[in-house]
Amino acid sequence: MAESKLDAVYGAKSPAELASAYDEWSASYDSDMGEVGYRHPAVGLALLTRHLPAGSEPILDAGAGTGLLGGLLGTVGYPVVDALDASPGMLEIARSKNVYREFHHAFLGERLTFEDGTYAAVVSTGVFTTGHVGVEGLTELFRVVRPGGVIVLSVKMTVWDSGFADYLAQAEAGAQVRTLEVTPSYASMPAGAVTSPCVGVVLRR
Ligand SMILES: C[S@@+](CC[C@H](N)C(=O)[O-])C[C@H]1O[C@@H](n2cnc3c(N)ncnc32)[C@H](O)[C@@H]1O
Repeated sequence: MAESKLDAVYGAKSPAELASAYDEWSASYDSDMGEVGYRHPAVGLALLTRHLPAGSEPILDAGAGTGLLGGLLGTVGYPVVDALDASPGMLEIARSKNVYREFHHAFLGERLTFEDGTYAAVVSTGVFTTGHVGVEGLTELFRVVRPGGVIVLSVKMTVWDSGFADYLAQAEAGAQVRTLEVTPSYASMPAGAVTSPCVGVVLRR
């Protein structure tokens, strides 16, 4: 089931069409992703806890979807988490879980409304992938994290190899961020028909 939904979101022709495809998927997203063994939230959570002290706040879950990661953040000691997503339908499911402070309907790649340095950390899982968001989404994420804060991303290998790694190297050379960690490649949906190799990335502002 997840594969046919993924085909629809990967094949979207515009951010609005992508958001609409996620609206349609939102009710069954959690169970579909459970069936394919979706791993990004667990990897993102592990990376964040390694680099950000418990109690740090607030955190922005960028492309929060239905809140699979947000629910875990509170459990491990990050009490204040905001959700941002392009899909109102996904945000409504996230809202029903009572794990986020604020909800922001917004598009990564566009200017965000947050002040500079608002967040102790940004986490974004399953978003830097085929047909979703590329390096154009990074500048604003860098801006809204405070100096010394942490950015945790999952990045699909095809995106990573198509300019993402080069962009990060330039950002590092320009002292915008420092790369703390890049994981070995892992399968994001190991029980699915398409395993989608990805890396987890941790940056320090
Ligand atoms: C595969 S889901 C991942 C959701 C959640 N982070 C997770 O790991 O379960 C991708 C999410 O990114 C959102 N998204 C895609 N493009 C976006 C954009 N340009 N700005 C904000 N959200 C976006 C989608 O609406 C969807 O909720």
